[in-house]
Amino acid sequence: MGSQDIHTDLPNSDAPELHLSHPTENECVKIWTNTSTSWGDSLELPEYLEESLFLTTIPLAKDGGMTTWILVDKNLPPDNRPIVCSCESFYKRSLTSDADGNVEDVVVHGIASVFCPEEYRGRGYAARHMKELARLLRNWQSDYAKVVGSVSYSDIEKAYYAKLGWIPNPTNMHFEFPPLKTPKSSLVEEVTESDLPELCRRDEIMIREAMAAPAPGVKKRVTILPDLDHMLWHIRKGDFATRHLFDKIPQAKGAIAGPLGKQVWAIWTHRYYGRHDAESPNNVLYILRLVVEGDMSANQPVGVDGVGPVLPNEQSSYLEAVLQAAQAEAAERHLDSVKLWEPSPWVQRAIKKSKIDFNVVEREEDSIASGMWYGENGDIVSPPIWINNEHYAWC
Ligand SMILES: CC(C)(COP(=O)(O)OP(=O)(O)OC[C@H]1O[C@@H](n2cnc3c(N)ncnc32)[C@H](O)[C@@H]1OP(=O)(O)O)[C@@H](O)C(=O)NCCC(=O)NCCS
Repeated sequence: MGSQDIHTDLPNSDAPELHLSHPTENECVKIWTNTSTSWGDSLELPEYLEESLFLTTIPLAKDGGMTTWILVDKNLPPDNRPIVCSCESFYKRSLTSDADGNVEDVVVHGIASVFCPEEYRGRGYAARHMKELARLLRNWQSDYAKVVGSVSYSDIEKAYYAKLGWIPNPTNMHFEFPPLKTPKSSLVEEVTESDLPELCRRDEIMIREAMAAPAPGVKKRVTILPDLDHMLWHIRKGDFATRHLFDKIPQAKGAIAGPLGKQVWAIWTHRYYGRHDAESPNNVLYILRLVVEGDMSANQPVGVDGVGPVLPNEQSSYLEAVLQAAQAEAAERHLDSVKLWEPSPWVQRAIKKSKIDFNVVEREEDSIASGMWYGENGDIVSPPIWINNEHYAWC
């Protein structure tokens, strides 16, 4: 922020003149300039500014899908007001269902990029911003479906968002696999961007079926749909970085194995937190979504793995081939690990029985999925069971 923006007479964080508004184009540039130190990843400032603008034009964000919120003094004019805190919200198509399996199409807002410029920190502005946001998001973009909550992925202490009303999900685990130079299995095919609409469509059908199945004892379930817009948001962001780093974009957006009805597929994205040639890069191939057709434990509350057989051997070998394809992609693209968030219980068991090298990580300090949930009257209620806490929903 330029020196002309440093106001010494800023209102207190509880002042009535503070309100949430939306930034002008110039103010967006200011916000992005500030956030570049936190979220620039492998990009220098000019490329980060270019990426930030680009990210407003991609699926999930475009056509009003993303809203930028700023906490400002309502008496000061746009372009001439200190922005004491900012964040984004994303409209996410979601489903809820009750114990009897009554499914409802709803909206969950994803909150991202909460940022208070350094010079304004520690004065309660972020807390005020989040309080105002919780109130406004309750009815934000509710024309087509009811808003049932908002979620955020915290990279700071769990207590921070919990204190503000966003309760951490009880589990935030992932499997981590090393990159592996391995020849492509004959079982596996590349998933390209043109395959994604159909795969997401089939996935949504299976999710709707699972959500419609009664779940005795589970009062409320919620799932954010792993739709094409979510996949493309991650993929376009990854493509931007890979084009910048390597002057080309990877064709494979996932891998698929097996015949129809027994297929296993993964959709992934390439995430470069730093340059691949930096001293200790920590770049990741994230599996956004893993689907195993016929997996009775999928799309269920964690820990409920249903009755019936575990993954048949045939499908376990497809799963292994898909995960190895992910490891090979990571090796080829200079990524340091493959991360798979909260796969189904059957998949977890199959991985543990396989020959694949893995670690299980329970995240305590980063990407902690946290939610604030609204009841029928808009009051805050205890969290529903969050189905499919996978990486696609992060943003
Ligand atoms: C996180 C951030 C928005 C907090 O801004 P802030 O203006 O310092 O927040 P507030 O003054 O409103 O603090 C609210 C409370 O949270 C606490 N808090 C602030 N930052 C915290 C952190 N990083 N970890 C844990 N608690 C924190 C404060 O101590 C305060 O507690 P109190 O109410 O008991 O006094 C700011 O530090 C920031 O922009 N950081 C860089 C970007 C970032 O990490 N964003 C969050 C991504 S999940």
